[in-house]
Amino acid sequence: MQPITDGEFARFQRFIFDAAGITLSGSKQALVSGRLGKRLAHHQLESFGEYFQYIASGGHPDEVQMAVDLLTTNETYFFRETKHFDFLREQALAARARSQPFRVWSAASSSGEEAYSIAMVLADCIETTPWEVLGTDISTKVLEQGARALYTMERARHMPADYLRRYCRKGTGDYAGWLLVERELREHVRFAQVKLNLPLPEIGRFDIVFLRNVMIYFNEETKRSVVARVSATLKPGGWFFVGHSETLTGLTDALEQVAPSIYRKPA
Ligand SMILES: C[S@@+](CC[C@H](N)C(=O)[O-])C[C@H]1O[C@@H](n2cnc3c(N)ncnc32)[C@H](O)[C@@H]1O
Repeated sequence: MQPITDGEFARFQRFIFDAAGITLSGSKQALVSGRLGKRLAHHQLESFGEYFQYIASGGHPDEVQMAVDLLTTNETYFFRETKHFDFLREQALAARARSQPFRVWSAASSSGEEAYSIAMVLADCIETTPWEVLGTDISTKVLEQGARALYTMERARHMPADYLRRYCRKGTGDYAGWLLVERELREHVRFAQVKLNLPLPEIGRFDIVFLRNVMIYFNEETKRSVVARVSATLKPGGWFFVGHSETLTGLTDALEQVAPSIYRKPA
């Protein structure tokens, strides 16, 4: 296999920008080569240029999705950035007696740990109010993992022990070291492919949106359009969470900041 050239890398930068709105800086050449190299080997292709032709030909949509899956970074775990879950708990407690469904969107859910962490808090706090969680991502590979709901115990290091006991089944035998999210909880969580860089499908309105650790991959213009689309799905008075290293400063006038990574749509 020939090493990736600057021209070939530039074509993949364009490809992932067009497909996902992701901006890959010039320093990511080794990442592209490392992640896509196995696909060249699989198809017995000699160069990244040939692989680019293969996916750009229009005849192999599954391979296009596979390239998107490989070029996205999906790191996540249960109860990542716990402060948001404390805040979620307060909102869920406040909503527990109302009649209208409480809806939360995990807008770049990766393999589902964020969506199930939200679901555990809602199951714990909300009594009679109906509730649901939508987990979406551009990568179909991680969405399949979310629907399977099977994780290594290592991912649950930050999960409260009580939640692990109440909402997960610990594996034994061949499944030792794994956990399966309980069916009752899974029934409140749905996964679907949503590309944040494109107009959104009809997904309804939400009380809370988690848009965490995905804007770091977008340029300013893409961030602005993604935030406009996502914030439009919030109910008046709804909450919008971003990752602790992210900010909405300069990106939107539609939301008010209430804490460093927590915003609210005026009621
Ligand atoms: C680092 S993970 C963040 C997961 C989770 N929100 C968290 O904070 O732990 C970023 C996710 O964003 C997804 N992503 C990247 N671009 C996207 C796009 N345009 N539309 C939807 N999801 C996207 C990736 O596939 C990846 O799973």
